[in-house]
Amino acid sequence: MEKNIAVIKGDGIGPEIVNEAIKVLDKTAERFGHKFSYKEVLMGGCAIDAEGTPLPQKTIDVCLASDSVLLGAVGGPKWDTLPGDQRPEKGLLGIRKALNLFANIRPAKLFAPLADACPLKKEITDKGLDLVIVRELTGGVYFGKHTTFEEDGVTVADDDMRYHDYEIERIIRVAFDMAKKRSGKVSSVDKANVLDTSRLWRKIAHSISEENPDVQYNDVLVDNCAMQLVRDPSQFDVIVTENLFGDILSDEASMITGSLGMIPSASLGEGSFGMYEPIHGSAPDIAGQNIANPIATILSASMMLRYSFDMGKEADAIDDAVNKVLAEGYRTGDIMSEGMKKVSCSEIGSLIADRI
Ligand code: IPM
Ligand code: MN
Repeated sequence: MEKNIAVIKGDGIGPEIVNEAIKVLDKTAERFGHKFSYKEVLMGGCAIDAEGTPLPQKTIDVCLASDSVLLGAVGGPKWDTLPGDQRPEKGLLGIRKALNLFANIRPAKLFAPLADACPLKKEITDKGLDLVIVRELTGGVYFGKHTTFEEDGVTVADDDMRYHDYEIERIIRVAFDMAKKRSGKVSSVDKANVLDTSRLWRKIAHSISEENPDVQYNDVLVDNCAMQLVRDPSQFDVIVTENLFGDILSDEASMITGSLGMIPSASLGEGSFGMYEPIHGSAPDIAGQNIANPIATILSASMMLRYSFDMGKEADAIDDAVNKVLAEGYRTGDIMSEGMKKVSCSEIGSLIADRI
């Protein structure tokens, strides 16, 4: 198969980790007889520097004309003082919206060779840790009106949190479909004891749950969910939640697996098109030193093959290669432990590519 991939390397460690993912994709293409072509476009801080905007129209056009998008990370201290609507992060939110990528899939799974890096007690992780967070990605407070104004002599900031019923319905359906391919359990996370958006969310979730009696369903309040994730993560299979809660819970879920540097994500819309990126940030403090962990980006490339290109075997080959390299004791600095072999970003990328 021939596929066109739009590539947004972004800022900080973005370029180095994306280069390793491309190395692995090229090896996979060679091994399985595919051809992947890449078109690089700018988004985030580098786009602000080059074109004066975090999300140039050309970037949206190239992405829309491609089969999928591979993204590194955006942002950094250099652009932190810009007004909210001109920051690199605005480019990321803008592209999610422009490409209508409303479903963000963030798996959190314990890698057996990294079990020691998990901060939870062994008796907790012995019960297993393999869950997926389905995060709503194009609605809620992220996309409400943000205003700061003066009123009666005081400064007021206002962020509008809004959900339409159809936005809730389509993301809940993604979660139920995913649960059917896994162990058949959906936990819907909200704050229905306080928020109207959550009460609407819960009502819609219940009606979809009634249509799907084969899927086990429960409601979990977001504060309780944060606590349950560290108390007993084995109780979760698919967690579905709104944008901001999903942002927070997915960082927590990734940490309990041992490293933020290991967790990939897929952002999907209605069809097979998707954008794939690690869930970690641009880590400007270690940028350009060839020490970042590219595994989350490499696993994001694997998700691209699985979800957008229907290349399950190829994706398995990448996942297996990552597991092999970890089992052989190779580690980047963030997941390094005693007795292991410390390697650079490009070295671990090559080691993974060699095992495909
Ligand atoms: C993420 C990030 C983004 C988000 C930021 C960079 C805007 O934290 O993808 O989780 O909050 O969605
Ligand atoms: Mn986040």
